[in-house]
Amino acid sequence: MSKNIGEIRALLKKYNQEHLLNGYDKLDEAKKKQLLEQIESIDFNLVNSLYESTKKEVKHATQEVTPIDYVDKYKLNDKYKYYENIGKKAIKQGKLAAVTMAGGQGTRLGYDGPKGTYDIGLDSHKSLFELLCDSLKEEGKKYGVTIPWFIMTSRENNDKTIEFFEKHKYFGYQKDKNIFFFIQGELPMMDTEGKILIGEDGLIKLAADGHGGIYEALVKSKMVDKMKQLGVEWVFIGGVDNCLVRMVDPVLMGLAIDRDVTVACKSVVKANPKENVGVFCKKNGKPNVIEYSEITEEMAEATDKNGELLYGESHILCNLFNIDAIERMGANPLPYHLAYKKAKYIDKDGNLVVPTSPNAYKFEAFLFDAFGEVDDMAVLRVKREEEFAPVKNSDSVGVDCPKTARELYKRLHNM
Ligand code: UD1
Repeated sequence: MSKNIGEIRALLKKYNQEHLLNGYDKLDEAKKKQLLEQIESIDFNLVNSLYESTKKEVKHATQEVTPIDYVDKYKLNDKYKYYENIGKKAIKQGKLAAVTMAGGQGTRLGYDGPKGTYDIGLDSHKSLFELLCDSLKEEGKKYGVTIPWFIMTSRENNDKTIEFFEKHKYFGYQKDKNIFFFIQGELPMMDTEGKILIGEDGLIKLAADGHGGIYEALVKSKMVDKMKQLGVEWVFIGGVDNCLVRMVDPVLMGLAIDRDVTVACKSVVKANPKENVGVFCKKNGKPNVIEYSEITEEMAEATDKNGELLYGESHILCNLFNIDAIERMGANPLPYHLAYKKAKYIDKDGNLVVPTSPNAYKFEAFLFDAFGEVDDMAVLRVKREEEFAPVKNSDSVGVDCPKTARELYKRLHNM
């Protein structure tokens, strides 16, 4: 910490956030220090611009959205083996690392713990983390390598995640040798007046900055350096909640290498126009994803001459990046998407407020907003039943829930 309390007060006055120190005198010494450190680390210009953005209508219409080309993995014919051989060679040379994004909260699932620790109800009672690790171990064995595994947590779930891995002896991986944890970034939450919120603990109420923060977090936490030391050139980034995620895929890698693109992503055919998945597209000629919350009904329903959905390549959070692309993406800020949430806070008089309806803004960057950084990328259509069984909702919802994921997992593994 470099600023004294007087300087901090002046800083807060400048940005109209003086209320942040209202409860300061009542905090113990450790928390006082923590609060001042938090304040010092805030980029108040960013906070101001985020607040300003809440007052503007987001204009998607200004971008020209067009469909994107893809290749179907199972219609590659001779090219299948060709790409596979290129990819296999690179994997055997230790050029691939896997990253799992496990910083999300699992609110929709209604599970109070890191989502990766969730047991989807198989007879083995393996957690999502263990299922993912099983697949990494199995694939690594095929190529005679141990695929280094990087796990992104959030401040909120980092300790619990590591405790879980400790308890399970890292599923046979070795901490700091082939398994690494890093924490994603956070941003303050604010009210509708642009005032940063203080949480029940007397500290600033921070929330994870979305999985788009992954590039910056990989660079800042020096995980990119670690990858380079290990000889990694390609990084697969996937979500924690897809129990069929195939992180090691020589065909995907071979396709990226052969096409000389820095990003290659997998897609599955969208189940129906209303499915809650983002779809690949081009925005102003650059690769991108249009999120399910942002697509118009007309676009979602549009079909081509063969009756296939024009925007039907679902983004399943299975994306492969060249390590240089990650560094470039980490250096450029991404736009933030706004979410309006319920958040408990301490008001200016020191009282706890428990809202019954949304009262606070949370800002999240999306990983795919960085796709526009590259001129071209490859999209590989794969089979849903082989690679996409997400656990998003509770069983009562009936889709993308533990029951559907478990069934798909069992079917694929002949259980
Ligand atoms: C996401 C994608 C959507 C895609 C779908 C496929 C976004 C915005 N949309 O939707 O395009 O079709 O998955 O399943 O991502 N995570 C973090 N930190 C965060 C937020 C999320 O690590 O701050 C992780 C979660 O742990 C999870 C993954 O990112 O592994 C997906 O996040 P989630 O918020 O569940 O995305 P969806 O809305 O399901």
